[in-house]
Amino acid sequence: MIKFPQDFFWGAATSSYQVEGQNVHADWWPWEKKAGKENSGDACRHYELYRQDFDLAQSLNHNAHRLSIEWSRIEPKEGELSLEALDHYIDVIKSLRARHIEPMVTLHHFTNPIWFSEQGGWVNPRCVKRFLRYCDFVTRVLAKHVHYWFTINEPTIYFSHAYLWGMWPPQERSFFKTKAVGDQLNEAHIEAYRLIHKIYHELNIAPPAVSIAHHMQAIVGCTQGLRNRWAVALREQLYNLEIIDRLTRQKALDFIGVNYYSRHLVDVRSWWIGNLLMETCKGNHHPLKKNFLGWDIYPQGLHHVLLNLKKYNLPVIIAENGICATDDQQRWEFIREHLKNVHLAMQEGVHVKGYLYWSLLDNFEWAYGFAPRFGLIDVNYQTQQRTVRESAKKFAQVCKTGVLE
Ligand code: FCB
Repeated sequence: MIKFPQDFFWGAATSSYQVEGQNVHADWWPWEKKAGKENSGDACRHYELYRQDFDLAQSLNHNAHRLSIEWSRIEPKEGELSLEALDHYIDVIKSLRARHIEPMVTLHHFTNPIWFSEQGGWVNPRCVKRFLRYCDFVTRVLAKHVHYWFTINEPTIYFSHAYLWGMWPPQERSFFKTKAVGDQLNEAHIEAYRLIHKIYHELNIAPPAVSIAHHMQAIVGCTQGLRNRWAVALREQLYNLEIIDRLTRQKALDFIGVNYYSRHLVDVRSWWIGNLLMETCKGNHHPLKKNFLGWDIYPQGLHHVLLNLKKYNLPVIIAENGICATDDQQRWEFIREHLKNVHLAMQEGVHVKGYLYWSLLDNFEWAYGFAPRFGLIDVNYQTQQRTVRESAKKFAQVCKTGVLE
């Protein structure tokens, strides 16, 4: 039997674009159509159905919920910040509080307003200023309702998918733009961190807790050869720790938000820097069970990732961890095994404060569309009917008791 602390945060995460539906002012909206991808359309109609969805979260004993604010709703045209759009999110947050669920708010989760993207998005030197104007507007109003903030979701995934691999809008494949966007996102976080703290101070509200949600992978060498060990160390630093190093140097993290899904297998054939940094295993070494999208299921990696964060001496919140699966039994096993590893890391001195499963609902999984089912709750996209999965009920027991049998 494993016991978690009494004040542990238990819940799930979502993001606006993936669940709300009809986010017509976001850059993904026209891009889905242009790129011939499945359209997000009505998604889960969570924009209207959030109260009923939060009733379900409450019935599942969640005491925390991570959501994101859709920038393109707040500022559909440059400089025209909508109080009415913000009212909606005030109500969303109040609805959580009324159900004794702590709201944790993300300001940027992959999508941008169309006008922002049309003017060069995160490459434009004015992007940080623009982002801060939106953050300022939102924070001043939400400060009294929100304590936990995530400024930017997965900066490294965002810039690599959108600017290096050309997989997401604006589909660039440029090393220089990737580097520039990475720097701007860091800057955006640091400035937003300071701004949020400043606003709380001005409003005489107790200091907030602000972080990013950082995508971390377990990086594992197929063999223990010298090249692989080098490559693992290099990637560990570059993909997992670099951003945390940078942000902690600037004293711009109150905790560390971790998104963890899978492992990254390293098998390098030459000493060329490109291979050291990027070549992954092509063989089927050390095969593991996989999720619906083919990602390795590797629970012990979460323990490893968490231990690597110990040196920063900051609280950690697992801001996302989840599986897309057709077999719901697999989902429960995934949660159970990952929780065991979270607990192990806690026993070894990592201060983990909460675990948020990705996701509360099945939703729009970006370029993969609606096929991957990540939800604790099944969504029938024809009828918008919700059905609580068995795994959700098992997880609900842990949320209630803090005990994993
Ligand atoms: C993460 C994203 C989240 C979701 C999950 C499966 O990288 O933050 O929006 O797509 O992956």
